[in-house]
Amino acid sequence: MTDLYAVFGNPINHSKSPSIHRQFAEQTGQDMHYTKQLVNEGEFEKAAQEFFEQGGKGLNITVPFKLNAYAFAQQRTARAERAGAVNTLARLSNGTILGDNTDGIGMVHDMHNLGWELEGKRILILGAGGAVRGVLQPLLEENPAQVVIANRTFAKAEELAKNFLDLGDVQAKTFEQLVGETFDIVINGTSASMQGELPPLPDNLLAENACCYDMMYGAEPTIFLRWAKDFGAAHVADGLGMLIGQAAEAFYLWRQIRPEVVPVITAMRRQIAEKNKQ
Ligand code: ATR
Repeated sequence: MTDLYAVFGNPINHSKSPSIHRQFAEQTGQDMHYTKQLVNEGEFEKAAQEFFEQGGKGLNITVPFKLNAYAFAQQRTARAERAGAVNTLARLSNGTILGDNTDGIGMVHDMHNLGWELEGKRILILGAGGAVRGVLQPLLEENPAQVVIANRTFAKAEELAKNFLDLGDVQAKTFEQLVGETFDIVINGTSASMQGELPPLPDNLLAENACCYDMMYGAEPTIFLRWAKDFGAAHVADGLGMLIGQAAEAFYLWRQIRPEVVPVITAMRRQIAEKNKQ
């Protein structure tokens, strides 16, 4: 029988997850059906309950339900506990609903695919919201020399840094405190780019050969990646590879098969560019 999967969110219309998972299933010969479902605010638990009762095998969870999914899971992976949010639910063979968070590992794998070295590097991460919290553990597991979290609201950066200190050298800073510092890797995890805004970054922030990563993506380079190019970044990447990477890890959790991400990234990149031309 075909196994059922879905992504829950609100809004959900533009979700690329069904297309990504269809490509993974084709590639690996898996018999699965993946749909998207618009869930009303306040109805996540009911919808998830129904989905699993009807035999559903796994869910991806997107905005605004990652905290609901965290609470819904009967068991959670260590990285989901750390992230404080769940983007993947899986029904295990004993019926237990397991919650995982694959966002951070998706981003780290994308950086590996891009050939970026993280070990021993000075990493700056902009923002201290859910997106940043979701990636800190996998990032620290790469053994960077230091991770600096800079955020508009300093207290939030401080709180985050405190929560991850046992995993490595993590420091909180304000944007002003970045003056005079340089970083090998700068990651934008703020939602500022969605409004076409940029955090107030000092000049000369990028070390030689610096890499800049935006967790957001779009048809055009984000304002952060344009800033990065202007200030001499050697390599830049947007978050499309992270999106496909987190999907690949969810697929692996469900099917125990790791799909190839690069052909899917290439295909989606082409699709986005063509859509933009229309
Ligand atoms: P997400 O789940 O996407 O991380 P969030 O938890 O609302 O969303 O966090 C948004 C992040 O973007 C926060 O770090 C926020 O900074 P504050 O903590 O100071 O609010 C940051 N952010 C949003 N708009 C910004 C802007 N225009 N300039 C700088 N930072 C911004």
